[in-house]
Amino acid sequence: MACTTNIKTLSYGDQKPGTSGLRKKVAIFQQAHYSENFIQSIFDTVGQSIQSNTIVVGGDGRYWEPEVARLLIKMAAANKVKKVVVGQNGIMSTPAVSHYIIKHGAIGGIVLTASHNPGGPLNDFGIKYNGENGGPAPSSVTDRIYTTSKNLTNYNICHDLDIDISVVSSHQVDVDGNSFTVEVIDPVKDYASYMEEIFDFPQLRGYIKKTNLQVLVSALNGVMGPYVKEILCQRLGVPESSAIACEPLPDFGGLHPDPNLTYAASLVEAMKDGIYDIGAAFDGDGDRNMILGKNAFFVSPSDSLAVLADHLDCIPYFKKTGIKGFARSMPTAAAVDRVAVAKGLRVFEVPTGWKYFGNLMDAGEISLCGEESFGTGSDHIREKDGMWALLAWLSVMAHTGKTVEQLLTDHWSKYGRNFFTRYDYEECDANNASEMMSYLRSLVDSGSLIGKELLATSGESYTVQLMDDFSYTDPIDKSVTTKQGIRVIFTDGSRIIFRLSGTGSSGATVRLYIDSYESDAKKCGQSAEMLAPLINVALTLSRLKEFTGRDTPTVIT
Ligand code: G1P
Ligand code: ZN
Repeated sequence: MACTTNIKTLSYGDQKPGTSGLRKKVAIFQQAHYSENFIQSIFDTVGQSIQSNTIVVGGDGRYWEPEVARLLIKMAAANKVKKVVVGQNGIMSTPAVSHYIIKHGAIGGIVLTASHNPGGPLNDFGIKYNGENGGPAPSSVTDRIYTTSKNLTNYNICHDLDIDISVVSSHQVDVDGNSFTVEVIDPVKDYASYMEEIFDFPQLRGYIKKTNLQVLVSALNGVMGPYVKEILCQRLGVPESSAIACEPLPDFGGLHPDPNLTYAASLVEAMKDGIYDIGAAFDGDGDRNMILGKNAFFVSPSDSLAVLADHLDCIPYFKKTGIKGFARSMPTAAAVDRVAVAKGLRVFEVPTGWKYFGNLMDAGEISLCGEESFGTGSDHIREKDGMWALLAWLSVMAHTGKTVEQLLTDHWSKYGRNFFTRYDYEECDANNASEMMSYLRSLVDSGSLIGKELLATSGESYTVQLMDDFSYTDPIDKSVTTKQGIRVIFTDGSRIIFRLSGTGSSGATVRLYIDSYESDAKKCGQSAEMLAPLINVALTLSRLKEFTGRDTPTVIT
């Protein structure tokens, strides 16, 4: 029998969830009562319904994560949660948490991750709440969590409850006279079986074997290692030597666990020598993916979304559910829109962040969605899903018999090409960055640029058709989200977008997105040369250097 204690606490004023949960430096979470306060704020916001229900707890194994997983169990018990389903050692990928919330009929889940941000004592940690649909809580809920946190005076904890979560097992204990269950589960097994329901594994296994397909996958030392080994190696017959950086480490081995060309450089290098036919990398918590073809041929996430949209019917899951619409975040290049038009399907443009896709999926409006930030997923769960994306690519290759590069070049000749790049200026001074955004907003408000021609130094000219600060009305619950990024849309369909990151843990990150459309595939040159004039226009227009003092971005995607 364990007993609850009610502890007095002082509230913190900074527990405002960003694009995807609360992310801060580990040291901030280690302050007295800091994590406890935020967890209690989640429980208070969910309210009484939590008492007779199940919650799922999982995380990416980063530094400080297992400790908070154990803390969560003590606090869940004290807050009268009926059952906690937790991954062995507190570990579970973000897409798996989403799956297990639905599978266990849970009221929600708590994901302990800072996703693609670096880990370790000097780096980042995060806590995110997902609702009963398995997806990240919408802003209305995260706003309430924040408000609750600012007024918090007490939290509940069961100090004397110490459950061993290192072994798959079920524990039932008495807490203040009520029964409390902790089910420690294998974080991979059921998720892997769900993938087998969605995709045609015998076909994929046969295709890999018959064509001797060479696959190289990096988990960047994040949570995905065990998923890669079970799904790709055990169930699809890919050799273990194809799974690199697949040992989950608390500091990701010093890697920045973000699957892009900069941070997954070792995968890119290994792909360059032409041995491997397809390469993939995942982020720390396994929801992001990067796909590469032979010789490190880069598939931009916006193109990945469009190619998958065009071939979705080859995946058994969609034969059953039918293909509904598509959706992309606003800064994502509009390549998928052209596929939607060709197929007579709807496409939705939502603000940045996976939480905006949830309502559309719940309402049966969309089957597939994605973000330029290496996020791809479908309505099989309510998170983006790195492994799903790789299996979808393998399915398209198996079905068409084409290479990654062929799939892309065929796509461009059919639909034209959206050249896309994102420039990140990380850790800028927050005041300077927000002054730049205010300046851009003043241009929106004055309307002075509409109809104007903007000239690149190399001579190209672009006429502004529209300039706004993106706002979104959710078609399902009608909630309105404003100030989601400055868009400048030109008459030829090209776009430049500026927004500030909502996931960083220090300073401000300015993101500049460029989407430049070319309908004639024959005219398509190298990406860099196609994008240069618009980048030049964007930098001049925003006076970015003047405001931030930055000459060059820290990351180019
Ligand atoms: C970033 C990405 C966004 C993604 C989020 C969580 O958010 O841009 O697309 O949903 O991470 O993975 P940002 O830092 O831009 O707010
Ligand atoms: Zn992630």
